[in-house]
Amino acid sequence: MSDPVSDVDRAVDALRRRGLVAFPTETVYGLGADAASDDALARLYSVKRRPPDHPVIVHVGAMGQLDELARHVTDSARALAAACWPGPLTLVVRRRRGVVGDRATGGRDTVGVRVPDHPLALELLQAFGSGVAAPSANRFGRVSPTTAAHVRTDLGEDVDVILDGGPCSVGVESTIVDCSDAGAIRVLRVGGVTLDRIAAIIGHAPTLATGGEFAAPGTLAQHYAPDARIEIVEPEDLATAIAAHGHGNHLGVLALADVALDVTGVTVLSAPSDVDDYARVLFARFRDADRLGLDVLFVVPPPAGGIGDAVRDRVRRAGAR
Ligand code: TXA
Ligand code: MG
Repeated sequence: MSDPVSDVDRAVDALRRRGLVAFPTETVYGLGADAASDDALARLYSVKRRPPDHPVIVHVGAMGQLDELARHVTDSARALAAACWPGPLTLVVRRRRGVVGDRATGGRDTVGVRVPDHPLALELLQAFGSGVAAPSANRFGRVSPTTAAHVRTDLGEDVDVILDGGPCSVGVESTIVDCSDAGAIRVLRVGGVTLDRIAAIIGHAPTLATGGEFAAPGTLAQHYAPDARIEIVEPEDLATAIAAHGHGNHLGVLALADVALDVTGVTVLSAPSDVDDYARVLFARFRDADRLGLDVLFVVPPPAGGIGDAVRDRVRRAGAR
């Protein structure tokens, strides 16, 4: 067994040397680099194979660091940070110049900031002391990793240190809320913090701006996609859909346990017990679909509302082509 304390020390050392460190968060694993170093960011973008104009989220170990990165932090942004951090919420705020590299923000006047809720992440970020730019630790356009093994499979030798904190407890990425404009609070990506929770904190429903690619570059329609073709079906259409595709195709199903699965000739990838469980296993099941060489994965999405919104969003993107 490795000693987690010395692993964090090694990881901090790697960050200081402009290296790349994969670390667990409650949402998905991140691929971290010193946000103040353009060299480290250049390497991060090249390993991710990410277009240079896609900004990354800057992770910090304490809420107080928001003011080091941001200027003009609105009351709503502060309220959201106070209520949700550490947690699966990213705030887009006006950035202070000269703190994080221009590469981290895709040249924008804003920066995305988050305090993740995972003990190993917090230990790393607090020991490092300043912002760590971290996109999800997968190659661009692929499914986000929710275990250290996923990171190893995707990035292998391209990462200097991988901190293993076990499987992620939330399983879908953070909710991104744009508070850079005092006039309107806009949700750019649905995720681990529900829309109801945001509405309760700010006192009204936020504007949904999750469709456009411009708002949060990287939330492309076709994203989070396994190689297997994703077919989104309603429970009552499942049997018909399977019958229509059954000839010579290797089929799989992902649906909540209470959805009737009295179908044959199909690999039931998993039957999550509830919607939180569905979010937790979603990306791992997408990977299973490829490992098993499935041609088609039928996905019966969970009901809308709560974290079901984030699951439905990721399923829809995985199914887009
Ligand atoms: O849960 C998460 O947010 C994970 C973990 C590792 O923290 N990170 C993550 O990062 O999902 P990534 O790079 O895969 O997605 C970040 C998203 C991108 O769609 C990016 O466009 C958006 O955040 N983003 C970052 N900074 C932004 C900014 N200043 N303005 C608009 N969108 C921004
Ligand atoms: Mg990502």
